[in-house]
Amino acid sequence: MAELISIFSEETDRFAAREKIREIFFLTSPLGDNFKKQDRECFFHTWAGWYLDSLPGETLLARNAECEIVGYLAGCLDSNAAFPLYRHIFYFKAFEHWYVEYPAHFHVNCHPDFQGYGFGASLVQAFIAYAMKKGRNGVHLVTGEKARNRSFYERLKFCEKACLTIHDKRLVILARDCRVG
Ligand SMILES: CC(C)(COP(=O)(O)OP(=O)(O)OC[C@H]1O[C@@H](n2cnc3c(N)ncnc32)[C@H](O)[C@@H]1OP(=O)(O)O)[C@@H](O)C(=O)NCCC(=O)NCCS
Repeated sequence: MAELISIFSEETDRFAAREKIREIFFLTSPLGDNFKKQDRECFFHTWAGWYLDSLPGETLLARNAECEIVGYLAGCLDSNAAFPLYRHIFYFKAFEHWYVEYPAHFHVNCHPDFQGYGFGASLVQAFIAYAMKKGRNGVHLVTGEKARNRSFYERLKFCEKACLTIHDKRLVILARDCRVG
């Protein structure tokens, strides 16, 4: 695993790490501002908290030279087995036939002050290496068809597999064979 990338489950202070993840999550997910307190908690739980609670060994953290957490990747090595996500993530079922070939998925976010410095790429590359080590040869993610982050994933050799309109949103599944160098 790359230097400065660590696994959430190995944090000595998981509570502090979780709070930092929460801060980064809401800074990078402006939709959260529309929710009342309890709904904000559900929103966080769906996209990050569930991963921290259920799969703490599959979530990665990136630290800067000052050792501050500046980004995280909430990962899931086996999407087909992640039953709660079928209920909570609105697009999860629609793309499920891809999860056989590309079983692992993730959500990655970097603090706005530390975007564009390569922390996101280090997190994704570490997750790909980790997935391969655990016997998963394919990784995927879902994003907006025209999202700014597409170029980021495409530079990391993720390719579009399908594009669907779900809840009035154009969404793409981008996937990568982990064995591609
Ligand atoms: C996408 C993201 C994880 C990439 O991490 P990073 O460390 O900033 O990325 P890198 O330095 O490795 O690569 C830079 C690329 O990231 C993407 N990026 C940078 N800032 C971004 C932002 N505010 N929003 C969306 N994508 C962004 C762009 O594709 C950028 O390439 P470009 O400069 O050619 O446009 C990070 O920018 C981020 O958290 N963005 C906001 C939330 C987001 O889009 N998360 C992904 C959800 S699917």
